[in-house]
Amino acid sequence: MRILGIETSCDETGVALYDEHRGLLAEELRSQEIHRRYGGVVPELASRDHIRHLSRLVRACLAGQGRPDAVAYTAGPGLMGALLVGANVARGLARGWDVPAVAVHHLEAHITAAHLQGAAPPYPWLVLLVSGGHSMFVHVERFGSYRILGQTQDDAAGEAFDKCAKVMGLPYPGGPALASLAEAGCPGRFTLPQPMAHDPGLDMSFSGLKTAFIQLFRSHAELFEHDHQARADLACALQYAITQSLAGRLERALLLPGAPRQVIGCGGVLANAFLRAALKAACQRHGAQLTIPPARHCTDNGAMVAMAGALRLRHDLVVAHPVQARWALTALAPHASAMAIAEAS
Ligand code: KG4
Ligand code: ZN
Repeated sequence: MRILGIETSCDETGVALYDEHRGLLAEELRSQEIHRRYGGVVPELASRDHIRHLSRLVRACLAGQGRPDAVAYTAGPGLMGALLVGANVARGLARGWDVPAVAVHHLEAHITAAHLQGAAPPYPWLVLLVSGGHSMFVHVERFGSYRILGQTQDDAAGEAFDKCAKVMGLPYPGGPALASLAEAGCPGRFTLPQPMAHDPGLDMSFSGLKTAFIQLFRSHAELFEHDHQARADLACALQYAITQSLAGRLERALLLPGAPRQVIGCGGVLANAFLRAALKAACQRHGAQLTIPPARHCTDNGAMVAMAGALRLRHDLVVAHPVQARWALTALAPHASAMAIAEAS
């Protein structure tokens, strides 16, 4: 069984061909640069750019490969116009080839990226999913069964990275730019708050951190505009505060009764090397096994969509689903089987 995966939920056009026996056969990714001049994603421009490039990327993936057995596409959540481009191309191809079109949930695709490296860790999983739009802990009893244990009450961590980077005048997307600036920084010079750190449970907050960052930046604008070391130290302080917030919650999650020992990190922010290292140390302290896909499969890509589509087909869980800008992960399957950990949290 070979599945073509198409991802167009935001500003990456991702296409991949996955073979159930041989693994990934081809993958293509185009990150839209057009949004840089606006400092954030402009939905209309994203849709137009997907239209312009998607067919070419599909052809490149299929070169010499023949017809796939199914076409998986991201049906939500995401930008409506951008999603519709991928969905329409996927459904058109599937109809032309007379193969199934499989609607995929974008967050399930991020989670199942952990299957792309060969044998996936055994379920149940404790998943930390951190992207530009989501920051959450999810208990995954088995493929398709999700229970949210805690999540951000306001901004996502990726959003905090992006908005703070924008204030500093760094290029979009801000996360990677801020992370590379932070490499030369010292974390102790500036201290930023970690909102909700002392609240029980696994919920998080990043908007207060973002506000504190902006206030600090503006109150020393002269310094932060001209002194490269001060900029690096500030970037480092933000990366440290976000990392501490996530790693601290992870340790708390691992202490809950019945918490899975298999931890999966996924979503674009997990491309951050400092965060990856902190999560690894946290898991080691608690005897848990951490799996994080390589950075290119943490940020949006077509391979994770092909993988999720393959698993939906394998488990006979394909559902006819409309394209939806908003779509809760927990709406995918009944979570009656979630274990005691959820009650304990
Ligand atoms: O999963 P993703 O590609 O798209 C969404 O589904 O949102 O995540 C994108 C987010 C952006 O906020 C981006 O700035 C952040 O991931 N990101 C990073 C890094 N690479 C991507 N944040 C911090 N450090 C990075 N190296
Ligand atoms: Zn994503």
